[in-house]
Amino acid sequence: MKKVVSVVNLKGGVGKTTTAVNIAACWAEMGKKVLLVDMDPQGSASISLGVMNEGNELLEALQKTAGLPVVATELAGLDLVPSGMALATAGMWHADSRGNDILAQCLEQTPGEWDFIIIDCPPSLGFHTMNSLMTCRYVIIPVETSFLGLNGLKQMVSALESFKALNPEIEIEAVIPCRAHRRRRIHWDIMDTLKEMFPRKVSPIIRENVSLAEAPGRGKPVILTDRISNGADDYRLVSLWLDERINGTEDPELNQVRQLISSI
Ligand SMILES: Nc1ncnc2c1ncn2[C@@H]1O[C@H](COP(=O)(O)OP(=O)(O)OP(=O)(O)O)[C@@H](O)[C@H]1O
Ligand SMILES: [Mg+2]
Repeated sequence: MKKVVSVVNLKGGVGKTTTAVNIAACWAEMGKKVLLVDMDPQGSASISLGVMNEGNELLEALQKTAGLPVVATELAGLDLVPSGMALATAGMWHADSRGNDILAQCLEQTPGEWDFIIIDCPPSLGFHTMNSLMTCRYVIIPVETSFLGLNGLKQMVSALESFKALNPEIEIEAVIPCRAHRRRRIHWDIMDTLKEMFPRKVSPIIRENVSLAEAPGRGKPVILTDRISNGADDYRLVSLWLDERINGTEDPELNQVRQLISSI
């Protein structure tokens, strides 16, 4: 199976798109070939890479179960399947779960070779997210280290448990603490809970960082807009950590050192 990763969380605004875009960019920077599939009708991942799209081509591909529309981005090694508002109607022609594996079939027919395919999902469990979860093996969940963030994570985990009946292959590969405020006590309380709930699966943190908030407005990932910012550093580290996890090349001792550094 190709290395297909879905970035999901039913809670909105937690950093799914920021994570999908910036991990995809960091992997490309590491020399990997990456396809980012924007499955959100908001089109935020596309906009964040400077691509304005109505989503008609992607909608048509899904309706015809044909190859996906792939465009190159400014960053060598990073390709994109752009999305937009038209995609909001996707799935209306399928009233039951038979429509859940359309994206997987489209991907099979899409010419191109990628080391990683990463899918940005909307904050809902409709057609778009269901199709993404049927297509992937690895699930990553960005989570805010707040009380409501933890609650949203629990809801997501229970939804994924039910979903395993449809795709038994899926695995929560990583929980990524996003928009972290290390000076807040709640951050550390939630981090402790996350590590108990997901031993070895909690990534180094992504700090709240102004460069990450500004990059989408410039249509580029943060490694291109502010390459030595905290945001760029954090996503580079998480991308390396995740690549090692997925490829089974992680070094537990090195990871302990990284966790220590990120808790300073
Ligand atoms: N680490 C961060 N530091 C600062 N701003 C951030 C960070 N992560 C995300 N943001 C900002 O927070 C907002 C929400 O982030 P993002 O769009 O990635 O969330 P999302 O989970 O994809 O939202 P949605 O559920 O609507 O798809 C955006 O304006 C984004 O630029
Ligand atoms: Mg999003």
